[in-house]
Amino acid sequence: MSASVGFLVMAAPLLSPPPDPEASDSPPARKLGARRVLVVYGTRYGNTKRVAEALTRGLLRVPGVEVDCLPVEQVMGSPVGSYDLIAVGGPTEWHNASDPVRKFLGALEGRDLRGLRGFAFDTRYQTPRSGSAAKVIQRRLEQLGVGILMPSASGFVAPVPHPESEGMLLPRTEERFESLGEELAAALLL
Ligand SMILES: Cc1cc2nc3c(=O)[nH]c(=O)nc-3n(C[C@H](O)[C@H](O)[C@H](O)COP(=O)(O)O)c2cc1C
Repeated sequence: MSASVGFLVMAAPLLSPPPDPEASDSPPARKLGARRVLVVYGTRYGNTKRVAEALTRGLLRVPGVEVDCLPVEQVMGSPVGSYDLIAVGGPTEWHNASDPVRKFLGALEGRDLRGLRGFAFDTRYQTPRSGSAAKVIQRRLEQLGVGILMPSASGFVAPVPHPESEGMLLPRTEERFESLGEELAAALLL
């Protein structure tokens, strides 16, 4: 008798309906089976932020993908192991990645990043000898053991404000990064 009472007590929570996520004030937990992406960017003047946000919009167009898009200063030293994909971007400065981005990547040294996928992006001038922060970032991610999901990409800026775009980004750069975001998400879900 007591055994069957015990069974009922234990079984009751299993039989109750799942909690209604809409009824809670707390932030939604990761959806079952969702892929989590961290888009982390360095920026001095805002161009790379705009590109990062465009990439995020594209990623979010694909159902089953959740994205945190954050400035590098905010995630410095944070664990990134709970993400499936980390997209790291920043401005090209002196043919290299900027100091905060290099510092962020340096802090990942020694972390267990097995299974993490990566993507690198930058903004820069469209000149033959510009250098590319994205190439530097991609190489660093590879050295850290992160699997590169798609080759790095650059958003180009005009050295002076361009009449057809806000700020310095060339026209249609954000649309291109939105499409790249969709492609990345699709590749992640494969
Ligand atoms: C200090 C400094 C150094 C730069 N060096 C380069 C460079 O070597 N190659 C390049 O293509 N662009 C270079 N740029 C241009 C930036 O990459 C470009 O303006 C970028 O879009 C800035 O991004 P942000 O607005 O996110 O800071 C440099 C800009 C600054 C301020």
